[in-house]
Amino acid sequence: MSRGLWVTLEGGDGSGKTTQATLLEEWLRSRGRSVLRTREPGGTAVGVLIRNIVLHHPGDIAPRAEALLYAADRAHHVETLVRPARERGDVVIQDRYLDSSVAYQGAGRVLDGNEIRDLSLWATGGALPDVTVLLDLDPAVARGRLDAVDKPFDRLEAEQAAFHERVRAAFLALAAAEPERFLVLDATRPVDELAAAIRERVAAALS
Ligand code: TYD
Repeated sequence: MSRGLWVTLEGGDGSGKTTQATLLEEWLRSRGRSVLRTREPGGTAVGVLIRNIVLHHPGDIAPRAEALLYAADRAHHVETLVRPARERGDVVIQDRYLDSSVAYQGAGRVLDGNEIRDLSLWATGGALPDVTVLLDLDPAVARGRLDAVDKPFDRLEAEQAAFHERVRAAFLALAAAEPERFLVLDATRPVDELAAAIRERVAAALS
């Protein structure tokens, strides 16, 4: 049986993760690979309920409660979906994982990033992806992309520019700390160039 692989995509809102996840999925399927495409928050039925709270609750949520909700979604997602898929030999392509919590709840909401990471590691029994693609983008450019799409902002997207600057810096720091897991790409590069760079990294990890 082919070896499983777990790939996560990270980056600010509007950085193009979904487009790249779709292109990677199409390429892997065309090569006969079995793919699980998923996301956090909201990759499971329980996760959809949690996603609705963290993204659409109309009032404030205490930062530690928000961190716990993302961690709860993650615990259930990894246990019931990601780990079994990986064990079956699937390639898991996942939009966001624990690095998003460290960046958004840690740097964004100003909680301790190490505590946030440890919380997620506890929640998932220490599960870490094989490859994490970081699509790095200036939040001002990302905001222009989001404004161009006629979709209301969720609770995180609606945060101030300074919040998104801290999130970006935190993602870059995470990537610098784990260079063997991360592939950092400039998200202003053309879509097909980004896709080719991601394919190359994934192909190397699969071989
Ligand atoms: P996403 O699914 O990328 O949003 P969209 O459907 O609009 O593309 O992510 C939802 C939001 O959740 C995003 O603003 C980042 C935030 N988030 C956290 O704050 N912490 C986390 O741990 C995760 C996974 C996401």
